[in-house]
Amino acid sequence: KLKLVVIGGGSSYTPELIEGIIKKRKELPITELILVDVIDGEEKLKINYDLVKRMFKKENIDIDFTYSLDRKEALKGADFVLTQFRVGGFKSRILDEEIPLKYGFIGQETTGAGGFAKALRTIPVIIDICKDMEEVAKNAWLINFTNPAGIITEAINKYTNVKAIGVCNVPINMRYDVANQLGISLEKIRVQFVGLNHLSFISKVIVDGKNIIEKILFANKNNENIVKNIEKIDDIDIINQKIGLISSPYLQYFYFPQKMINKELENINSGKGTRGTQVAAIEKKLFEKYKDPNLNVKPKELEERGGARYSEIAINVIDSIYNNKNKEFVVNTINNGTFVELPNNVSIETNCIINNEGARPINSGKLPKSVAPLIKQVKAYEEYTIEAAVEGNKRKAYLALFNNPLVNNKEKIEELLNEIIIKNKKYLPNF
Ligand code: G6P
Ligand code: MN
Repeated sequence: KLKLVVIGGGSSYTPELIEGIIKKRKELPITELILVDVIDGEEKLKINYDLVKRMFKKENIDIDFTYSLDRKEALKGADFVLTQFRVGGFKSRILDEEIPLKYGFIGQETTGAGGFAKALRTIPVIIDICKDMEEVAKNAWLINFTNPAGIITEAINKYTNVKAIGVCNVPINMRYDVANQLGISLEKIRVQFVGLNHLSFISKVIVDGKNIIEKILFANKNNENIVKNIEKIDDIDIINQKIGLISSPYLQYFYFPQKMINKELENINSGKGTRGTQVAAIEKKLFEKYKDPNLNVKPKELEERGGARYSEIAINVIDSIYNNKNKEFVVNTINNGTFVELPNNVSIETNCIINNEGARPINSGKLPKSVAPLIKQVKAYEEYTIEAAVEGNKRKAYLALFNNPLVNNKEKIEELLNEIIIKNKKYLPNF
């Protein structure tokens, strides 16, 4: 028996996940699958349910497959729980993107003040889910995609007994990019990641036992975007040469804040809207497609979303736990002394060996000196955010933003924080 429960089953990413399940069918014989969502997501949940049924039928796959609005009931006896929900939906995402801009800061759903607001909404919900799991699915693994994924992994570890691994598609996309640039197949390259979720860096590129990162740093660059939601700024290549690391595209928010703000303002002023506004439109079209009774595969249009390859990583991580494969993946797990500059009980994003005991980091020692202060400061922001969300503590919320490098005018914090709390009131039971 192998039971998987997906929370946020109404997400438009669901067909991507199902495609992954179908591809891994032989090694990962799931016997029961339940898609769970809340009442507001019921319509999308049903559309996904029907599409997934057609996808399974096409492949002659016989799984006990249902959907549910009753989370706790659905979680009973689960082996794996996958979370991909979005508290407050796109409406809240767009607020996260727009509110900080009013105060002169970048608005982004996972980083800066926007990511902070998303964390405040999400932490109480993930802790609730874990409380349910502690009761009815004690031995289950939680694979979390809900952003901000690093912060969420850490909150789970600090406040619950649930075994959790946080996942993001950026590392695997960066690895593919390195492989493309070298023209070498993925399997022949080991790429070492250090840092935090959406604040990660490649510190080594190993081919045949040799670190050849310099070759990539000084190569002629393609201008390809690593993820669909962040357009590459070419000057990041120059910064990478100086720091001797390959930065995640999310570092652009830290290196070029004004440029990133201007891009957002342009999008808003030209009527295109923030990324959230654009994605809401993409999603509308996607669900129209999903409704088509002749559709029985993942539609190509889903590739317009930033989460490409997310199922590849999710399903392979589950496979490596279930089959005790000891494979290496870059995931979010607890530091436990891996990076000596950071506390033991915080989350990090780095290469891990994954087996039936979970994720064990295979990195150790010091963070690269060129970026250690930034990582430490962002971690301070993350720790305050978690405490603020759990305690409903406004002073800690202030200190979270105070420590966030993207909130770089401390004069505005009080006003910004008040607006975030007012606009999210419905989702902040602790405040
Ligand atoms: C990236 C990140 C994800 C994020 C996604 C947003 O791939 O790793 O954490 O959710 O982009 O994509 P979207 O299409 O929603 O803007
Ligand atoms: Mn991510």
